[in-house]
Amino acid sequence: MMHPEISLPALIAHRGYSSAAPENTLAAVKAAHDAGTRWVELDVQLLGDGTAVIWHDKDVSRCSDGHGNISRISWAQACQLDVGSWFGDAFRGERMASLKSMLALLDTLAMGVNIELKVNKGRDGEALVDRVIPLLMSALPPERLIVSSFDIQALKRCRQHANAQELALGALFRALPANWRSQCEAIDAYSVHCHWPRLSRHHVNAVRDAGYQLLCYTVNDPSAFHPYWAWGVTSAFTDDPDTFQRYLKSHQD
Ligand code: G3P
Ligand code: MG
Repeated sequence: MMHPEISLPALIAHRGYSSAAPENTLAAVKAAHDAGTRWVELDVQLLGDGTAVIWHDKDVSRCSDGHGNISRISWAQACQLDVGSWFGDAFRGERMASLKSMLALLDTLAMGVNIELKVNKGRDGEALVDRVIPLLMSALPPERLIVSSFDIQALKRCRQHANAQELALGALFRALPANWRSQCEAIDAYSVHCHWPRLSRHHVNAVRDAGYQLLCYTVNDPSAFHPYWAWGVTSAFTDDPDTFQRYLKSHQD
């Protein structure tokens, strides 16, 4: 099947520029943009009342001044949380981003995004997909959107959505499993996303030879990652795109 003409950069800011601003916030995406990064990776989940929000963890304690499981919090409660102070005083008062507000910002900044569907244990992956996919597809052009997940069932559900036949889907793995190829075929994947320390040169060749883009997470050691570029990796997710960019510039052949 056809995929959109996506122009992926070498570096994608992981959870936004998450070493410079609180992860998965509007501030982190603005910081990535200010640093010249064209694409960001962000995690999405549903609150208890069904609101889609940009958030990584199952609960809010690590990255806010509150406590509790994300599935038991309403949007009204989420709006009371300070999601910036834990990172630094400069971000005091930062609020949790709804998916809608994040998409509006990405549109304004003309940025691309890899939205990772976080299907945590016990959560309804179908409800997440059914809420998120229409919002994504109405907000962003297909060339600036990749949807990924560790949950292959959720990705299959994405593909069933109206007009989503060409949506770029990324199969997300920790170690590349033996059946990675059949999983990718089942969703007509655009890309394969892997935890880079577990990836061999042989894996990289196999994924690229099969026609998939290969994205690696989370790369914060540009020097250790250096050989992977020559092997054929497409992009690296990094918490610190500025430092990585400087490394790449100073090591251009
Ligand atoms: O999408 C790549 C990476 O974000 C997956 O791991 O836990 O950082 O969401 P995590
Ligand atoms: Mg993620």
